[in-house]
Amino acid sequence: MDYLQIKGGAKLQGSVSISGSKNAALPVIAATILSDKEVTLTNLPNVVDIRTLLKLLTMLGAKVTHEGTQAKIDNSSIHSTKAVYEIVSQMRASILVLGPLLARFGECEVSLPGGCAIGQRPIDLHLKALEAMGAKIEIIGGYVRAEAPDGLRGAKIIFDKITVGGTENIIMAAALAKGTTTIINAAKEPEIVQLCKMIRDAGVEIEGIGGSELIIHGTDRKTLDFQPTKIIPDRIEAGTYLCAGAITKSAITLTDVNPEHIRASINKLESMGCTFEIGNESITIHPPQTIKPVNLITTEYPGFPTDMQAQFMAVAVMANGESLIEERLFENRFMHVGELNRLGADIWLKGNIAAVHPVKALYGADVMATDLRASSALVLAALVAEGTTNIHRIYHLDRGYDNLEGKLSALGADILRLKEPARS
Ligand code: EPZ
Repeated sequence: MDYLQIKGGAKLQGSVSISGSKNAALPVIAATILSDKEVTLTNLPNVVDIRTLLKLLTMLGAKVTHEGTQAKIDNSSIHSTKAVYEIVSQMRASILVLGPLLARFGECEVSLPGGCAIGQRPIDLHLKALEAMGAKIEIIGGYVRAEAPDGLRGAKIIFDKITVGGTENIIMAAALAKGTTTIINAAKEPEIVQLCKMIRDAGVEIEGIGGSELIIHGTDRKTLDFQPTKIIPDRIEAGTYLCAGAITKSAITLTDVNPEHIRASINKLESMGCTFEIGNESITIHPPQTIKPVNLITTEYPGFPTDMQAQFMAVAVMANGESLIEERLFENRFMHVGELNRLGADIWLKGNIAAVHPVKALYGADVMATDLRASSALVLAALVAEGTTNIHRIYHLDRGYDNLEGKLSALGADILRLKEPARS
């Protein structure tokens, strides 16, 4: 197993290219199931979660060639509609194959993803919506077994809660359903917009793209012919590098980024004293000498993203006053608090609110990554901690950050990936 060793205190400089978005690529890969022709995807990030989903498609019978940032996926040879526990337990986003498999083949079995480090994360809203579209669903032996032998039919879906994955699953299911599906209270994330545009460009009429009401006119099981699709830039990776600039008080430039997608993070960093030069596909951050505290509440796009909460907490630790951070999406997304406190942070938790008190300095220590974004918060804190920080269990980081140590070290950070000593 690998760990990261970071010696804090280095200034960063230069520019970093932002990779394709993991959370956009995953539904796009799942959507290729709606086609029986080869689909070309480009700008894929080099992260474990992408390889996991491509492996799942291969297990279903797809032919996949994946090289660098490009994959060609041919789903004409799918011979199984069962997404097995071994894969789904590695990555809960595997549930995204449920909608497209059911819509195209009229049946599928997908292992039920359990809870995860950040919360229970049920999929009840996905299942309820598919039932409204005519699916018969049973949970047997830890699997969701879904059937719609005559195909899914359009329906009016009102999500009780905004769900990114639920919206994606239903958009994909609706694309091949018979008739029109209306999704009310749909998620509006840029990743959803990319999925809608990909499906629309394959001939499915979709109204309301980017809004909270989507109307999808299904093809009645006629499979789709997708255009080559370039994955949008990763807004969470971009936000994480902005935080790296802020916490190390270094001016750095992000390229291959969509500034519009990270408006909420930019606004918060501005309130902390940072200034920005914003181009069409680039952003330069100019941090202040003294970071101001921040108050933030996580919410759905275009609000402040839960996926940036941990990184902002790391930056807030170095501010000159108390910050308040409220997590509204996931009930357990504060696992980084204990680890940041091991580095000398002074963070108090009450329910879903964290009070971050200012400290003069952080000090290197051994810490443990607990989930993807929590891990990146530890990396940020380690960049300014005095001495050496060893971050263990970085397989979490590898799931979602493309070449994090390579990119940070090119910016000037003192960061090494090392092997844990073998335990006897
Ligand atoms: C997506 O997860 C992202 N994952 C997450 O990013 C992100 O944190 C999350 O959206 C919120 O923005 C991918 O895109 C692959 P949800 P998802 O369904 O779709 C509740 C990262 O770090 N809910 O929008 O699973 C749920 O428990 C990851 O890259 C139900 O109650 O999130 C949560 O409280 C982590 N029932 C809220 O809704 C359901 O059926 C939002 O979850 C579905 C969700």
